Amino acid sequence: MSAPTLDRPAAPDEAALQAHFDATIAADKRVEPRDWMPEGYRKGLIRQIAQHAHSEIIGMQPEGDWLLAAPSLRRKAILLAKVQDEAGHGMYLYSAAETLGADRADLTDKLIEGRHKYSSIFNYPTLTYADVGVIGWLVDGAAICNQVPLCRSSYGPYARAMIRVCKEESFHQRQGYELLMTMMRGTDEQRAMVQDAVDRWWWPSLMMFGPPDDDSPNSAQSMAWGIKRHSNDELRQRYVDMSVPQAEALGVTLPDPELRLDPSTGRYRFGQIDWDEFKRVISGNGPANAERIARRRAARDDNAWVIEAATAYAEKHAS
Ligand code: 3HC
Repeated sequence: MSAPTLDRPAAPDEAALQAHFDATIAADKRVEPRDWMPEGYRKGLIRQIAQHAHSEIIGMQPEGDWLLAAPSLRRKAILLAKVQDEAGHGMYLYSAAETLGADRADLTDKLIEGRHKYSSIFNYPTLTYADVGVIGWLVDGAAICNQVPLCRSSYGPYARAMIRVCKEESFHQRQGYELLMTMMRGTDEQRAMVQDAVDRWWWPSLMMFGPPDDDSPNSAQSMAWGIKRHSNDELRQRYVDMSVPQAEALGVTLPDPELRLDPSTGRYRFGQIDWDEFKRVISGNGPANAERIARRRAARDDNAWVIEAATAYAEKHAS
C-alpha cells in the first residue's frame, strides 16, 4: 500500500489489484472500464475488438456491391438494412475499444496500413446475387456461432455490445436463408447459382473461426481471461454440425466429399481446410484484399472534411 495522506486515501498496490482482477475473472463477473486490469488483458482486448470492428466495416463492402443491383425493392430494402447494421456493429465495437484507451482514428490508420487484421472472409468477391444469400446464411451463421458466446465475454462493454450485434445477426442469417429458399424454388439457373455460391463460400466460412487450436497463439490466454469462451476448433465443429442439416433442407451439397456423420459422436467429420490459403488471405494476398483496403482508404480520405467540420462545430459550441 502507498502511504495515505490527509487528502489521499491509501492506493492499493499492484498485487492487490491483480488479486481483485483474478477474483473477478474466477467469479465470472464483468471487468468494467473503471477497473484496474493487467496490461496484457487490455492489449489483447483491443487487438480482438479492433479486428472485429474492422471486419464489420470492411464486411459492408462485398454485399454493398449489390445495393444498386438488387433484384427487387424488397430485396434492396433488406440489403440496405443489413449493410447499415454492419456499420452500427463497427461503431459499437470501436466505442468498446475506446473504453480501453484506444483511439478510433489510430485504429483506422492501422487497418489501412496493414498493421491490423480483419476477417479473412471479406476478401472474397460476391459474383452473383446468390452470394448475398449465402453470406447471410453461412457467413452470418458463422458469426452468430462465434459471437453468441462473446455475449458472456469478461469485458463488460464488449459483452454488452455483442448482445445487440447477435440479435441483428440472427435477422441477417434468416434473410439470407429465406433468399436462398426462394431461389431454390425458382429456375434451374437460380438453383445452379445458389450451388455455385455455396461451393465458393463453404471453405472460407470454416476459416472464419481461425487457425486450428494447436496453431492458435492467442487462444489459451484469451480463454483463461474469459475474453473467448470456446476454442476455434470447438466453434468450427459446432458450426459444421449446425450447417449440414440446413444445407439438406435447402437442397444444396456442401463441397466436401469427406463430410459425414460420425455415429460414435453424433458429430460431422469434415475434410482438410486449406490453411495455406488462409495464411495467404490474412497476410493481404487474398482475391479482394487490395480492393477492400483501397476503398477503406478512400472513405477515410474523402470524408476527412466531415470530421474536421464536426470537430470545429463541437469546439465552437463548447466555447
Ligand atoms: N481472419 C483474419 N485473421 C484471423 C482469423 C480470420 N478468420 N482468424 C484468426 N486470425 C488471426 C488472429 O487475429 C491472430 O492474429 P494476431 O495474433 O496477429 O492478432 C492470428 O490469426 C492467430 O489466431 P488466434 O486463433 O490466435 O486468434 P484469436 O484467439 O483472436 O481468435 C478469432 C481469432 C476467432 C477471430 C477471435 O479473435 C474472435 O472470436 N474474434 C471476434 C469475432 C470476429 O472478429 N469476427 C470477425 C467476423 S465479423 C462478422 O462476420 C460480422 C459480419 O456480419 C459482417
